[in-house]
Amino acid sequence: MELGLKNKVAIVGGGSMGIGYGIADRLAGEGANLVIFARRVPKLEAAAKTLSEKHGVKVIPVSADIRDQDESGRIVQTAIDQFGRLDILVNNDGAPPLGSIESFDDVAWQKAVEQNLFSVIRMVRSALPHLKAAGSGSVLNISAISAIQPIAGFGLSVATWAGLIGYAKTLSMEIAKYGINVNTICPGYIDTDRLQKVFAAGTESPESVRAKLTAEIPLGRIGSTADIANLVALLVSPAGAYITGCTIPVDGGLLRALR
Ligand SMILES: NC(=O)c1ccc[n+]([C@@H]2O[C@H](COP(=O)([O-])OP(=O)(O)OC[C@H]3O[C@@H](n4cnc5c(N)ncnc54)[C@H](OP(=O)(O)O)[C@@H]3O)[C@@H](O)[C@H]2O)c1
Repeated sequence: MELGLKNKVAIVGGGSMGIGYGIADRLAGEGANLVIFARRVPKLEAAAKTLSEKHGVKVIPVSADIRDQDESGRIVQTAIDQFGRLDILVNNDGAPPLGSIESFDDVAWQKAVEQNLFSVIRMVRSALPHLKAAGSGSVLNISAISAIQPIAGFGLSVATWAGLIGYAKTLSMEIAKYGINVNTICPGYIDTDRLQKVFAAGTESPESVRAKLTAEIPLGRIGSTADIANLVALLVSPAGAYITGCTIPVDGGLLRALR
């Protein structure tokens, strides 16, 4: 199916590895030109080179810590300087540390708000004039299934991403008139470096944690980054333009809820 993404311009957060890289790979494979950002330069530049050579599109790496309030403007301006337009904004990066809620002080909470909520607010603020100018477009957020089915120990993420979901729904209603859709994907367990760290965080062996969590997934496997990227590609394409304001689990059936 031709998704109509050829020559579109997308910003993909956390594009150097994991889910962000999977999304960048999928969009570049559809012919989109990209700006990808992350903090660590060597990994980011290697990813941009690989994607560009593999798909024959332009991929511009921008080293940035998205918790820094000045970076959103610079990232968006890079896309405009390089390509003269912006069609798609994918908000994705890392996540705050795990731990019990009572163990976190104001500094930890502040950082979590910067990472999971303010990063998106600022990126959208910077991107919106250009998405409007393009006449249509997409904002796509990567959150987590824990934001709708909380997990003990994930409190910093759960609380801040719940705010993100409210923000995204409201935004979707306010900017639908410009032909811009806004959706949030909530991954379940997706095979990335980050998930390996989650598996290794406790006292149990990572292999044993992996086996136990896999057994909870009705589809019987940990998801791949392509499982997320396939839905992203649809939602940010003309074929997905009528889908907006949605919070969509991609979790192999893990979420136990009627919704
Ligand atoms: N994997 C899962 O099972 C899963 C499930 C649910 C939700 N999620 C969420 O999906 C998102 C991506 O997860 P992942 O598994 O792909 O993680 P990952 O493999 O650790 O990749 C994270 C990416 O984001 C970048 N990044 C992290 N912090 C950043 C910051 N402050 N500023 C700019 N870039 C930053 C990283 O590069 P640098 O470190 O170089 O900056 C990297 O490119 C996270 O928010 C995660 O919580 C993941």
